[in-house]
Amino acid sequence: MNNKFRLLILWITCFQFFSGSAQETNNYKAKLAPTPPMGWMTWNFFGTNINEKMIHEMADAMVHSGMVKAGYNHIMIDDGWQGGRDNKNNMIPDPEKFPSGIKALADYLHAKGILLGIYSDAAQLTCAGYTASLGFEDQDAKTFASWGVDYLKYDYCHAPEDSFTAKIRYKKMADALRKSGRDIVFSICEWGGRQPWFWAAEAGGQLWRTTDDIRDSWKSLMYNMEINADLDRYSSPGHWNDPDMLIVGLDGNKGPSGDLGGKGCSAIEYQSAMSLWCIMASPLIATHDVRNMSDDTKRILLNPEAIAIDQDVLGLQGSRKINTKTWNVFVKPLANGDYAIAILNKSNESQEADLNFKDLGLEGNFVARDIWQYKDLAEKSTFHALVLSHETKLLRLRKAP
Ligand code: GLA
Repeated sequence: MNNKFRLLILWITCFQFFSGSAQETNNYKAKLAPTPPMGWMTWNFFGTNINEKMIHEMADAMVHSGMVKAGYNHIMIDDGWQGGRDNKNNMIPDPEKFPSGIKALADYLHAKGILLGIYSDAAQLTCAGYTASLGFEDQDAKTFASWGVDYLKYDYCHAPEDSFTAKIRYKKMADALRKSGRDIVFSICEWGGRQPWFWAAEAGGQLWRTTDDIRDSWKSLMYNMEINADLDRYSSPGHWNDPDMLIVGLDGNKGPSGDLGGKGCSAIEYQSAMSLWCIMASPLIATHDVRNMSDDTKRILLNPEAIAIDQDVLGLQGSRKINTKTWNVFVKPLANGDYAIAILNKSNESQEADLNFKDLGLEGNFVARDIWQYKDLAEKSTFHALVLSHETKLLRLRKAP
């Protein structure tokens, strides 16, 4: 064999090795969170006031109310579960809040078809001042895996501000999770300050917060939507922009969201929250008291046709085609060739919407299905309707034959 030939063989072997491992990485990424994660998180209603009894009750309520069946298949325990480390530096839960341990809780949830999420932080302490994972990434990832954890939200309080350090710290935990022997979805939560949409997927995240913490108010909803709306090109199956939890059903109650300026929204505004999160393919993570849901909360959170738009397997975040002081219009292509459209009236008065589908790049006639009315409208190339102040019309357009 001459040298040139040997070199060629070596080159081909290297190429196969590296493209093989790249393939493996892509498969791994696509396997986790192929559609935006859905579930319920403890934070915005309960803060750190959490315990296993409440979580059992919440799991039961999620099953009985139909939330699990509708797709809300995670319970995420946010900050406040930690009880420090044992004499081998293994993280332990607070023994008063979780006397049976996290493994028993995971078993309880798994038996009901619910996956378990947990929370830590890329520093020594979490945002609420509890034990966090910096320097213990491998050990903590193994602990979480041994408990049966399926999802980790990883916060960034008490960590340096620069994005270089953030990338390193997030990658460290992502690698640790990957080596843990369990599939664990990794949710990056540095609030958008270091523009994670540019680097979080590469660091190993399946979703990343794009915004600061949401509050239970229209102003906060619009603020988070505004930031998230123009990031559509960074979202894809396995990699989601996360504008924070769904505020639907918080109803102005006490809790971190309320205490920090959220006084509640009207039913029309909560319906807009759901419509906008669905058109933006956002994670659908509720955070209200599931045990006491109003009829409006159920109607909004459980609408199967809205959820289907969010969970569509094509995995495209809707793009904002119209952005004026009054109107925001989004278009989201769907896997079966349909298009979802959201038409938001941001103004404080009811307005007549007069839309030509052609202006959104959609030629021809469509049957528009009104997702909140469960009703097909007559086949047309236009949409005309009164849209109430802060209302969002959510439509699914089917091309006329
Ligand atoms: C940060 C996060 C919130 C929540 C709290 C917990 O503020 O952004 O979503 O997890 O920490 O302390």
